Amino acid sequence: MARAKSAYACAECGATALQWSGPCPSGGAAGTRSETLTERGLTRPAPAGSVALDAIPTREQERLPTGMAELDRALGGGLVAGQVVLLGGDPGIGKSTLLLQALASFPPNQAVYVSGEESAEQVALRARRLALQTKGVRLLAETQLERIVPALDAAKARVAVIDSIQTLWSDALQSAPGSVAQVRECAAQLTRHAKQAGTALLLIGHVTKEGAIAGPRVLEHIVDTVLYFEGESHSSFRLIRAVKNRFGAANELGVFAMTDKGLKEVGNPSRLFLSQHGKPVAGSCVLATIEGTRPLLVEIQALVDSAHSPNARRLSVGLEQNRLALLLAVLHRHAGIVTWEQDVFVNAVGGVRINEPAADLAISLAIVSSLADRPIAGKLAVFGEIGLAGEVRPAPRGQERLKEVAKLGFDKAIVPRANVPKAAPKARMDGLEVIAVERIDEAVRLLKDL
Ligand code: TYD
Ligand code: MG
Repeated sequence: MARAKSAYACAECGATALQWSGPCPSGGAAGTRSETLTERGLTRPAPAGSVALDAIPTREQERLPTGMAELDRALGGGLVAGQVVLLGGDPGIGKSTLLLQALASFPPNQAVYVSGEESAEQVALRARRLALQTKGVRLLAETQLERIVPALDAAKARVAVIDSIQTLWSDALQSAPGSVAQVRECAAQLTRHAKQAGTALLLIGHVTKEGAIAGPRVLEHIVDTVLYFEGESHSSFRLIRAVKNRFGAANELGVFAMTDKGLKEVGNPSRLFLSQHGKPVAGSCVLATIEGTRPLLVEIQALVDSAHSPNARRLSVGLEQNRLALLLAVLHRHAGIVTWEQDVFVNAVGGVRINEPAADLAISLAIVSSLADRPIAGKLAVFGEIGLAGEVRPAPRGQERLKEVAKLGFDKAIVPRANVPKAAPKARMDGLEVIAVERIDEAVRLLKDL
């Protein structure tokens, strides 16, 4: 078999050259060339055969629990044999810590930790400091792909961690470790191995602050599951979100706290995203949201203050920026709330990122409360999408949201009419009064009467 050859291909026009030589002569674009493998061998493969889809036997996927319920939740119920997971996040956010803790829960000789970043001693020190039972974990401090794959094969591990994919390099390519070509090639080979051997493989990837393109993002389509660390590294809370998952629900969120003994799970995260105010404050409204499959209460804060420059500022943290401009327009047109000469800032407490439109009503009411400098009275939670015509649209899974609101001891909820439980127009659930609204101006008026 011929030795694998590599060449440099232009990402824009596809022209290849044997050596890297600056801008592509065909397209003329600079910086578009990257290294790719061109020839792996000269044997001609036999044609592939197709099978009737319903004749394929399937088995119930057996899940390998990681010993951390919040990580299992983000994974959709634990790891699956042959699953390849990418865990991305900023440097220092806790990726190595989390996966070392997860491996420690596996029975002896089922787990391998491949460390390319830290020496064996550093990993061992960390394990001691975390007081982990790591008797069963095999450690491999190595960065060359061609040495790692046979080692994983020999270890017959059920689960393996690669820390990190950016430190690995393959002999077949000349580019430096961490380059797009190396990251892609190493991940592809490891994935092939994981599928053949039935090993669950966790790849750690650093996300660079600048858009994350050269890093693990190029792997998102290769792997089965993509988990990202969310939240700010200066707070002690760490959120892990499943951005993609072939074995479970996307958007699922696992919540942890970083302590001096590593990452600890947070079982009841709703309390985390509600700040503790001694007495009610203006500009705060509690949103009942759904993250993945879990209902969650998150405090939305708004600050509306007179602008001191001709261009009033609109800024959102953890919420969609464009949505904010849209909501301000709807508030003006359909509820008579004027914010032209006001700076408007909105924020989701706790560093959680909220993308669903059902946050609209909470954002709007927080803005109204801040503008009027009047706290929202009582323990109130809301949800609902707002349309351009000023209507409040129903949100999916209203019942579950309301249950969480009732569970956390709230006494009122303002919700879209279609989300009110069928039983009664002014329904009660465990002491919770559910108030239906159809339009944004109704909701704004309700605030005054609470
Ligand atoms: P680490 O897992 O090394 O981050 P990553 O692999 O994502 O780069 O975590 C490093 C940070 O976590 C470091 O700043 C110290 C902190 N940390 C703790 O607070 N407690 C602990 O028990 C450990 C192990 C780390
Ligand atoms: Mg690390």
